[in-house]
Amino acid sequence: MKGKVALVTGASRGQGRAMAELFLAEGAAAVISGDVLDPREPEGSRVEFQKMDVTSPEDWDRVVDGIIAAHGRLDVLINNAAVCEYEPILETTLEQWDRVLDIDLKSIFLGSKKVLPHMIDQGGGSIVNVSSIWGLGGVPSSFAYQAAKGAILNVSKNIATTHGKDGVRCNSLHPGYILSPMNENQAEDINAALIAGTVLGRPGVPRETAYAVLFLASDEASYVTGTSLVVDGGYLAQ
Ligand SMILES: NC(=O)c1ccc[n+]([C@@H]2O[C@H](COP(=O)([O-])OP(=O)(O)OC[C@H]3O[C@@H](n4cnc5c(N)ncnc54)[C@H](O)[C@@H]3O)[C@@H](O)[C@H]2O)c1
Repeated sequence: MKGKVALVTGASRGQGRAMAELFLAEGAAAVISGDVLDPREPEGSRVEFQKMDVTSPEDWDRVVDGIIAAHGRLDVLINNAAVCEYEPILETTLEQWDRVLDIDLKSIFLGSKKVLPHMIDQGGGSIVNVSSIWGLGGVPSSFAYQAAKGAILNVSKNIATTHGKDGVRCNSLHPGYILSPMNENQAEDINAALIAGTVLGRPGVPRETAYAVLFLASDEASYVTGTSLVVDGGYLAQ
């Protein structure tokens, strides 16, 4: 990551925060977080925390234009910010559908469209879109979340195929059950079932998905594009 400038959405906490801190530990020149929430324990962190709503085109303009003005380039975009609603289709309201699709999927359209011209101009870049194991298989809940996370698989392949010759790589990451603020209030029986479904017999921690994203973002993954990397303790292996 030496010398690279990265934007990670939703990096105030959780997996996004672990990614941002790891990028800096691995030599990134600058890592910017764009999040609606204030950062958890910002003291001592070298992440540049910016207030940003990923559903807002104006916020994307402000944050990305600011990064280009300050650093002259943007090498890595991690579309990580998301929310989850657990309702199955018959209990999902139109408002929930719109909210989840806006935050989890439209954000990737807005963000990628904003950064791609800069990546093309500078000869390349890496985009990682954070999906889920629920973007690869069905569960009897979370209708809107599954819609967004499933679409992320294909929009990632689309960007990869459209902009490969520009030197831009794009991949999706599919975490399994990772301990983070997103699921700390999740029902115990759901957590127990998720852990029981892994072959490692335990949940993951943010650092474990951060290392996978680090690989996809870095030049070590120079021949890796349009693929989906599953980090789930073997949940989907069985
Ligand atoms: N935790 C898991 O078990 C798990 C499993 C599979 C996939 N994921 C995915 O991993 C990613 C990271 O989630 P996490 O587990 O760290 O949860 P998290 O809730 O801690 O992190 C999500 C972050 O996104 C931010 N965010 C929400 N709405 C936003 C908006 N409109 N604009 C900007 N930022 C916004 C939140 O403030 C938060 O900081 C998400 O894409 C999530 O869907 C998580």
